[in-house]
Amino acid sequence: MTALSVNLNKLALLRNSRGHNSPDLLHYAQRFIELGVQGITIHPRPDERHIKQQDAHELAHLLKDFPQIEFNIEGYPSEAFLLLVEACMPAQCTLVPDAEDQLTSDHGWDFTKHLETLRPIIQRLKNAGIRVAVFLDPELKQVELAAKSGADRIELYTEEFAREFSKDFSGKNADQVLSKYNEAAILAQKLGLGVNAGHDLNLQNLPSFLSIPAILEVSIGHALMIECIDRRH
Ligand code: PXP
Repeated sequence: MTALSVNLNKLALLRNSRGHNSPDLLHYAQRFIELGVQGITIHPRPDERHIKQQDAHELAHLLKDFPQIEFNIEGYPSEAFLLLVEACMPAQCTLVPDAEDQLTSDHGWDFTKHLETLRPIIQRLKNAGIRVAVFLDPELKQVELAAKSGADRIELYTEEFAREFSKDFSGKNADQVLSKYNEAAILAQKLGLGVNAGHDLNLQNLPSFLSIPAILEVSIGHALMIECIDRRH
């Protein structure tokens, strides 16, 4: 079964826009758990525009009471980020090549450039007992190199799939793009990597994406918040 990890960034953004603790992230993390999700994801950024360092610590503390829930912290592996992750001890850390001022993640790692930098970082997190995923575009070359990085999993960046899917709703291009993701996932699995996926996944495109076998986890934030206020679902 594919695990759903809910990304809480958007709730934190809403809270920060008012300067007091509403919506309360801890309350809604528990609410998502009651609703049956398998994981909670956060993406702390250096400017703390949504998730703050304190949120990460508080969620880590809360999730100790829910050992079945996978805590996933994603972000760019600066020293400050790595120290936060080591202090919070999530089940999984997803490394993302974000610039500091980036609006949202919009590309995967280029392992032709970053393999040697990432290898010791991945090892450091694994030594601490944290599973490591690396954010990746669906490119076979990148998958091959990711397998040499020591990462346990890749997270496929699904924006391109979601864009094609919404354009022609599972038409020709969406099928072509989906088969690119399928090939990347199958190669990753052959090379011993687990496969997660995320970005712009929603209720419409998810069933099609999950025709790819053995996707272990999807992390979803943006669409989930929209779907909460869309009465058609
Ligand atoms: N995966 C990564 C690495 C992300 O940065 C994000 C957005 O924070 C997501 C998944 C979730 O994307 P969305 O909010 O579009 O569901």
